Amino acid sequence: MTFLFPANLKIFFMGVLRLGVLASGRGSNLQAIIDAIRKKKLSAEIAVVISNKQDAFALKRAKRSGIPAVYVNPKDFASREAYERELARLLQEHAVELVVLAGYMLIVGKPLLNAFKNRIINIHPALVPSFPGLHAQRQAIEFGVKYSGCTVHFVDESLDAGPIILQAVVPVRDDDTEASLSKRILRREHKLLPEAIRLFSEGRLKIEAHKVRLL
Ligand code: GRF
Repeated sequence: MTFLFPANLKIFFMGVLRLGVLASGRGSNLQAIIDAIRKKKLSAEIAVVISNKQDAFALKRAKRSGIPAVYVNPKDFASREAYERELARLLQEHAVELVVLAGYMLIVGKPLLNAFKNRIINIHPALVPSFPGLHAQRQAIEFGVKYSGCTVHFVDESLDAGPIILQAVVPVRDDDTEASLSKRILRREHKLLPEAIRLFSEGRLKIEAHKVRLL
């Protein structure tokens, strides 16, 4: 018997999506991904975790879950480009299909963007395009917004302003401190990031100009 498939049939999901996670610190978002995979809410595998900080707790979280964990010191390279070429090489060596920035504190440049075009996502603790860069929660409090939140977006050359995949809204209270607002937002981050990865893994994200359409 012969099966005929239309020539344009796209098979998005060829198996388990291989993730590469870049993290600079605590790694609670990394943990949320690990937990979502373990609970089978996400059909993915973390192929490697890379950090630019030797003492990043994210590396410990990876190791204790049996995930390859690599520290790459940017200072060991002649330039930021050379450092990023090494990251790209490592990610490719681990056959990574989607790069997840989970608290990665360096700006991503051309070598990584070119090697993983439309395949790098980031979580930002504000409603993009508001409050890019560091201390987004403090910026939100100082500005006096009544609502803030978090955003998962594709990474492009802009700073925290790439095409938006998902956002979650969180109220800002009059007596909020940077710490209390960060905590409230973080709880939402831990749901939003695995959810965005799931949508990607199911081939349900389509970038049209600067907009992401959820299929
Ligand atoms: C999170 O708030 C994330 O949105 C921001 O950096 C923080 C990282 O936290 N980009 P963690 O290391 O995942 O705990």
